[in-house]
Amino acid sequence: MKKVEIHPDAVERVKKFVINDPQLGFGKYVVPIMIQAVYDHGEWQRFDLLPYGPIQLDPCSKVLHYGQEIFEGMKVFRHPDDNIYMFRPEMNARRFNQSAHRMAMPEIPENQFISACEVICSYSKHLVPKRLGESLYLRPFMIATEVGLGIKPSKQFLFIIVASPSGSYFAGDSVKVYIEREDIRCAPGGVGYAKTGGNYAASLKSYSKTIKLGCDQTMWLDSVEHKYIEEMSGMNFFAVINGKIVTPSLTDTILDGVTRKSIIDIARSENLVVEERKISIDEILSAIHSGSCTEAFVCGTAAVIAPIASFMDKDLSVHDLPEASGKISMHLREKLVSIQAGRSEAPEGWLHRIENLSF
Ligand code: COI
Repeated sequence: MKKVEIHPDAVERVKKFVINDPQLGFGKYVVPIMIQAVYDHGEWQRFDLLPYGPIQLDPCSKVLHYGQEIFEGMKVFRHPDDNIYMFRPEMNARRFNQSAHRMAMPEIPENQFISACEVICSYSKHLVPKRLGESLYLRPFMIATEVGLGIKPSKQFLFIIVASPSGSYFAGDSVKVYIEREDIRCAPGGVGYAKTGGNYAASLKSYSKTIKLGCDQTMWLDSVEHKYIEEMSGMNFFAVINGKIVTPSLTDTILDGVTRKSIIDIARSENLVVEERKISIDEILSAIHSGSCTEAFVCGTAAVIAPIASFMDKDLSVHDLPEASGKISMHLREKLVSIQAGRSEAPEGWLHRIENLSF
């Protein structure tokens, strides 16, 4: 494993950095340092902790033309004893490599990925927020930097981690969902399960329509029958039907969310029934009308868990969830947030303590 080289000017900058804003929002602020690693000649050459700043890219870098790029989203929490912890980082390290494999990019050994995260967290420890629901959001990503307009996998890459002290992702308490029945996010055999920018870029046109219609999130259906729920743009989907928690089973068109998995683990540990199966949008809409679907929610690292208030269909009809909706989702949210924040006991291996490596 390569040691991360610490640049003294990075340390000087981060030491002095403060954020004086009670409304952190999501991704609005970044710490003034970043990890940067270079891949060339078939291996990761070096890992550095540098001052945060613009990166220079040749206009013909492959990422700019062919989108060879992957990323992760993960969170770091301050506990009441003032120690800081990453949440299930080995799941992100594994998924990063699964995305890398699909996008013809080099893997980063899991321990190297986690140790690079540890370094930026340790040097940013005073910037990990204190309040419940806030965290330091880490965004590791990798881009193809080889120069040339030929379409082939790059041989050179840059890996970077930036970190953002963040609050909640959504401004409101619940989300309104627009059901996308025309465009698709991805197709079987494609890259839907990889955390690559193109999947998010593909969602943006629909996102604009969603916002224009007064909704918050697009719900994507399968690309073959335009019938089965897959995920939202950057979040997984759950519903409660007849008291059972249901979520789409994973396929190669759905991102395998760390929050999704954690919710399933928490729910099952409390003897709640969780079914991972195909769910059609028609099943959800008719279950709302019959009263058997009592709640639905979205979840993700950034979003945590947010109850769904309503679904809007293509004909602009609105299908509201019952007013009392959110009992199970809010219970799961509270449980997850309190585990992450060190206020409830965490299942074995869920919290990764950051040792003090810095000043
Ligand atoms: C995350 O939840 O970490 C994501 O990458 C999704 C994005 C909506 C911020």
